[in-house]
Amino acid sequence: MAEPAVVNDYLKSENIDIRPLSGALGAEVRGVDIANLDNDGFAAIHSLLMEYSVLAIHDNPGLTDSQLRDWGLRWGSLDVHGYSPTVKGYDDVLNISSGPKRRASAEGWHSDVSWKEIPPKISMLHARKLPSVGGDTIYCSQYKAYEDLSENMKDFLEPLHAQHDGRNFDIDLIRKPVTHPIVITHPETGRKALYVNRGFTRRIPEFPPMESTAILNFLYDHCTRERYQARIRYESGTLSMWDNRCVQHCAVPDYGYEVRELHRVAVLCDERPSQ
Ligand code: SIN
Repeated sequence: MAEPAVVNDYLKSENIDIRPLSGALGAEVRGVDIANLDNDGFAAIHSLLMEYSVLAIHDNPGLTDSQLRDWGLRWGSLDVHGYSPTVKGYDDVLNISSGPKRRASAEGWHSDVSWKEIPPKISMLHARKLPSVGGDTIYCSQYKAYEDLSENMKDFLEPLHAQHDGRNFDIDLIRKPVTHPIVITHPETGRKALYVNRGFTRRIPEFPPMESTAILNFLYDHCTRERYQARIRYESGTLSMWDNRCVQHCAVPDYGYEVRELHRVAVLCDERPSQ
C-alpha cells in the first residue's frame, strides 16, 4: 500500500476531490480517469479504498466493458459468478439491470458471493442507465459493527463459524454450503469485521437451529444499523467500488419500472476469509 503522504501529494497534484459519504464509511471521488490511471494513481485509489471501504468514483461515462475488466484485473483475478446475467462477450462482467420487464435484484443486505469458498474481495459497478430518481446502493461498515460490540460479545463470536449458500441463485446450491468464520480479519488493514449477511448466511453449525437463528437474527439487525451506513447516489458514469471483506450492501428498488443498468466486475480474494 502506498504511504499516505505520497498518496496525499498525488491526490493534491492531480486535483482529485474527495468527500466522505458519511461518518461511518465511503467517499466520493472526482477527477480520476479510471481507464488512464498510472501506477501512482492506482496506489492512491487503493489507499483510499482501504481507508473508506467504499468509493463512488464519478465522471467516467465512457468506460467500456473491456476497460472495466482491465481495471478489475489490476486488483486481482475476476470472479465468474456463474448464475447471473452477463454482458455479451464477457462471462465475468455481470449485467445488473431492471426495468419494465425485470424487477430489481440485490434488494436485501448481502456481501457479494459469500456462498463461495473464495468470495470476491472487491466489487465494482459502472452506472450505464439510471432511473430519473432513486436507485442508490447502500453500504454498511462491518468494521464499525464489530468494533461497537461489547468485549463479551466479541469473545463469544470469535470462535464461531457460519454456513453460507447461494440458494437464491440455484436451489441446488443448498447442497454446497461453505463455512466462513463469523469474525474475520481483513488481510490488508488488519482490522476485524463481522462476516455474516441475511442474503446468504444460513446457520451457525456450533449451535442447534433455534439458537443459531436467534444469534444470526441479532447479528443481521446489528450489522445493518443506520449508524454504520453510507449511500451512493449514482450519476451517469459513476463507478462504485467496495470492499466485500468489511462491507455489506443492498440495492434500493425505489424507482418503479424505470430502467436501471449497471455492469459489475468482482475481484476474488487471494485466500479464504480467515480470523
Ligand atoms: C450488487 O449487489 O452487486 C448490486 C447492487 C446494486 O444493484 O446496487
